[in-house]
Amino acid sequence: MSQIYRIAVLPGDGTGPEVVVEAEKALDAAAGRFGFKLDKTSYDLGGERYKRTGETLPDSVLEELRSFDAILLGAIGHPDVKPGILEKGILLRARFELDQYINLRSVRLYPGVETLIKDKGPEEIDYVVVRENTGGVYTGTGGVSLKGTPHEVAIQSMVYNRHQVERCLAWAFEYAQEHGRKARGVGDQNTLALVGKTNVLTYVYDLWERVFHEIGERDYPEVKREYYHVDACCMWMVKSPEWFDVLVTGNMFGDIITDLGAMTQGGMGLAAGGNINPKGVSMFEPIGGSAPKYTGQNVINPIAAIASLAMLLTETGNNTSDAKRVEAGGRVEGAIMAVTPKMASQAAGKMGYSTSEVGDMVAQAVARAD
Ligand code: IPM
Ligand code: MG
Repeated sequence: MSQIYRIAVLPGDGTGPEVVVEAEKALDAAAGRFGFKLDKTSYDLGGERYKRTGETLPDSVLEELRSFDAILLGAIGHPDVKPGILEKGILLRARFELDQYINLRSVRLYPGVETLIKDKGPEEIDYVVVRENTGGVYTGTGGVSLKGTPHEVAIQSMVYNRHQVERCLAWAFEYAQEHGRKARGVGDQNTLALVGKTNVLTYVYDLWERVFHEIGERDYPEVKREYYHVDACCMWMVKSPEWFDVLVTGNMFGDIITDLGAMTQGGMGLAAGGNINPKGVSMFEPIGGSAPKYTGQNVINPIAAIASLAMLLTETGNNTSDAKRVEAGGRVEGAIMAVTPKMASQAAGKMGYSTSEVGDMVAQAVARAD
């Protein structure tokens, strides 16, 4: 009996719709090749809907989203809407309400892609960041008093409880054991590195560090443990990215270092991510924004969205009946790697191909007989 895979598609704002269409081409090709059925439902969340109705992510839509196998998102952010409204109202609300407590972001240099880092190639730039996704300063704990006066006070607290830290670290250890360098056959150890700031954030990252060693010692003695302060981590991401295997960190640091990671892997046009609830519905999205200035020109790079789709297939495959979807995810990533060397550049407007041509090439590579 063939299973139906139900996907909610949220094209969103700016170039989001253009790149999501290309990811859908790859998805359709993968479904055809691996023999699973798709049922896709599109939602018009984003700036235009907000301008029309004042709604960001209505409760009714949120409830519907819970019933899907996965969500594919383009981009959120509209030039006519004050920053923060759509980001908080749609993106962060979905992450929080759907309890997508892991944000998995891979920093992988695909073949033929130029990196800003001299003398480094796909072998050196190949790691993932596990970003905690529902806590920290992102929870909005804080407030303001004496606003507008010279004595105004603004507080925004970095709040973590042990439960949040434990579940994120446990997931990261499991990931490192299953997908680390040794597991992938490209090194002799699986390594998980905690990225923190234990020299200044002596409460929050002390908690992270203690739980990190507790879980590692008790449950994952074979996974090598490392620690980097976040500032030094940025330095090594540029100088010696080959040191990294799986990195795990809090929400804010994860946000920041993955933009740096994206630049080392060839730019925002390539950086894929997944907001994962291991027991619920997960949402996959390119980590870049809505790029308003390129909207509607058919010049934006769709690879990040297609790579997010590959992650959607791989990461939502959590039981044996999903094996073919996991295989399909690998196939899509392989197709991307067959296409990137043919592109003149990864920058918008300089790819040597249009957005839709790149999408067609990847979809053809997914479908190709071999
Ligand atoms: C990201 C983005 C978001 C974040 C913004 C748009 C709220 O920068 O996904 O990295 O900070 O998480
Ligand atoms: Mg970010």
